[in-house]
Amino acid sequence: MIADSFGRVHDYLRISLTDNCNFRCFYCMPEEEYDFTPASRLMQTDEIVQLAKIFVGQGVKKIRLTGGEPLVRKDAAEIILALGQLPVELVITTNGTRIAEMLPTLLEAGIKTVNISLDTLQPEKFLLITRRDLFHQVRSNIELLLQHKLTVKINMVVMKGLNDEEIKDFIRWTKHHPIQIRFIEFMPFSGNKWTSNKMFSLDEILASIAKDFAYMPVKGEVHDTAKHFMIPGHEGSFAVISTMTAPFCSTCNRMRLTADGKLKNCLFSDGETDLLSALRNNEDILPLIQASIWAKKKELGGQLNTHFEKLDAAAIHNRSMITIGG
Ligand code: GTP
Ligand code: 5AD
Ligand code: SF4
Repeated sequence: MIADSFGRVHDYLRISLTDNCNFRCFYCMPEEEYDFTPASRLMQTDEIVQLAKIFVGQGVKKIRLTGGEPLVRKDAAEIILALGQLPVELVITTNGTRIAEMLPTLLEAGIKTVNISLDTLQPEKFLLITRRDLFHQVRSNIELLLQHKLTVKINMVVMKGLNDEEIKDFIRWTKHHPIQIRFIEFMPFSGNKWTSNKMFSLDEILASIAKDFAYMPVKGEVHDTAKHFMIPGHEGSFAVISTMTAPFCSTCNRMRLTADGKLKNCLFSDGETDLLSALRNNEDILPLIQASIWAKKKELGGQLNTHFEKLDAAAIHNRSMITIGG
């Protein structure tokens, strides 16, 4: 079992397969030229599996693959199939562009839930945000996942003045589609130019939905990042991930392994533990994992303990989102 000093058991591991991505979303990666980590410094397939097995041996029940974009990694299929053999729930967060070609692999590995990042339903705005003209490809891949009866969650990072007016369009999408839309409060990461006035809060999201729809809260699971809601008559549902205004750290069960093999005990931790080097040096890995998680801070890596309106994003030391994977 892996636990922290506050008694939180950690049984959910997020593994980033690469910090490379075929999109260029401004809120996720630094504006200046960014060098993706060379392949030799990334965890190799066997190293990912070796590390994953140590975590699974300690009670990890869920593994989420993240990126960058996990499916742009050349050996993604090999890794997914290998992890699919482990006795865990395997899930993935992706931008959705590579779903058509990867679907047979996802199904063979037993993946049943796919989280797709999609911040707008307008093709021109999609191009503006991602700098790639692939909106229709992502939309048709979402349909493909639904045709194959996979559970689909849509991650929509809400940014004031950019896409907050689209919240109702996303809600309308749930009327005849069994999807879950997760509206996410914009979070500060190194290089993403977060300011509090770009943030659209949980309260603002709910107020904007209430103008057109009668929604009801739904009880979620204890470790959920999201607060859940339903609208009578809608096939799908929606949720809000409110890291900034209503954090959910008291029930945190998540650990993160970056693509270069560093263990982060919190999305907002500034320290990390180099498991890949230790593995390559034949060191004992488990004590390193246990010490890292034990040292975890109670809330938001200890860094976001100020009201978000007073937060100085420049004073937050973390990696850019593209190198953590969310
Ligand atoms: P489920 O396992 O389906 O609930 O997904 P998830 O929300 O854990 O993962 P996903 O990769 O879809 O991330 C959705 C959003 O939640 C992203 O903005 C993540 O950065 C954020 N998120 C995921 N885990 C955590 C966490 O432990 N803490 C915080 N603050 N945010 C998180
Ligand atoms: N704030 C909130 N969520 C973010 N994501 C990426 N950057 C941010 C940010 N700054 C989300 C993406 C993806 C998930 C892993 O993290 O939408 O779906
Ligand atoms: Fe856990 Fe850190 Fe996320 Fe809070 S911010 S829920 S402690 S990973």
